[in-house]
Amino acid sequence: MKILLLGSGGREHALAWKIVQSPKVSKLYIAPGNAGTGNAGENVRLNINDFEEVGSFVKSHGVDMLVVGPEAPLVGGIADYFRYTDPDLRHVAVIGPSKAGAQLEGSKDFAKHFMGRHGIPTAEYRTFDSTTIDDGIRLLRTLTPPYVLKADGLAAGKGVLILNNLEDAERELREMLGGMFGDASARVVIEQYLSGIECSVFVLTDGTHYKILPEAKDYKRIGEHDTGLNTGGMGSVSPVPFATKEWMQKVEDRIIRPTVEGLREEHIDYKGFIFFGLINVGGDPMVIEYNCRMGDPETETVMLRLKSDIVDLFEGVAAGDLDKRPIAFDDRSAVCVMLVSGGYPGAYRKGLPISGLDKAGDSILFHSGTAMDGDQVVTAGGRVIAVSSYGRDKAEALERSMQVARSIDFDGKYFRTDIGQDL
Ligand code: AMP
Ligand code: GLY
Repeated sequence: MKILLLGSGGREHALAWKIVQSPKVSKLYIAPGNAGTGNAGENVRLNINDFEEVGSFVKSHGVDMLVVGPEAPLVGGIADYFRYTDPDLRHVAVIGPSKAGAQLEGSKDFAKHFMGRHGIPTAEYRTFDSTTIDDGIRLLRTLTPPYVLKADGLAAGKGVLILNNLEDAERELREMLGGMFGDASARVVIEQYLSGIECSVFVLTDGTHYKILPEAKDYKRIGEHDTGLNTGGMGSVSPVPFATKEWMQKVEDRIIRPTVEGLREEHIDYKGFIFFGLINVGGDPMVIEYNCRMGDPETETVMLRLKSDIVDLFEGVAAGDLDKRPIAFDDRSAVCVMLVSGGYPGAYRKGLPISGLDKAGDSILFHSGTAMDGDQVVTAGGRVIAVSSYGRDKAEALERSMQVARSIDFDGKYFRTDIGQDL
């Protein structure tokens, strides 16, 4: 089977690493990929948001399956394009939901209404637009801090603001509705603040059946002990100790099953990953957000713990017989430590040569932001390399990842040393 994987980050390198372990795969293309994915398969230069360009590559190269890494093409409707626009693309298995399904991530207001309709636990909320700013301000004045404001649409991970005083919240609400994130903040959700530890849970679904993947926790702040600015993710750990069997049963009964059944009842075509961003509030899971894709950097630990052939699971997604496909996990712990560029998440340099990539030992390197400059691997993003390791427990896995993190080098390299230690 020939597979085309869309995306260019650590998540995609981890997916590529897992996909090419399958005996079912004869060829893997990654578009556009990075220096690391180029070792797992063949990178191809495509604009992944230009569906005609992607479709024409798929036809000319006899691709059988399209795996979509990031949310933008899904929210833009790439799955519908393959299914309905061109008869020669209809047979291609697309791993990723329809445009309607991707609204779980593409519109916070849609996601909140959906949870409301299906009794899925989440924070209380109301949605405002430019005609109801004054109502939004009045609501804020009745709440206690911290205030949670969310741009309705995709805002490159920057659309959630948590503010500690009323003046800032009122100002930010006006700015968001005034076009701070363009169309993405034409509507803003004001939400009740929830306090607890977060956990990311992933499922693959064929629209009827689902398989729960290993859970993970990501670390978003730049500094040790979750201090400083938010980033795209500084590391992850799996499993998550508080996600016990009992807790995961609550997640399945109260959140996962109602979500998959709700999508089905509403005739929303959904074949792909659902990412449940959860928070543990006094022992009860609540949904912070849905995403229509895998998480990054969670994928860089989740893939280590998935023992089964992921392509077999993908075939189950496409065929609608996911219930018949076995799934097994590795009992060991996995920890991912992200090496980032100096200055990130602010301004940073690119094109810096990376050394020590041959010193990974038993750890696995997933490239996040790298490129080739001739024969030299160079930095090409804020997040550069994800170092993932197994361990008997998370302390051992962390120690192994840090050892490798120290031996890889580029100018300004920085990483956190406390991934998983808070749990
Ligand atoms: P993002 O990944 O940009 O959507 O960031 C969302 C982050 O904001 C979550 O990971 C939480 O840490 C935080 N957050 C979102 N909604 C709430 C809420 N209702 N209560 C508390 N924290 C929240
Ligand atoms: N790690 C969070 C995300 O991928 O959105």
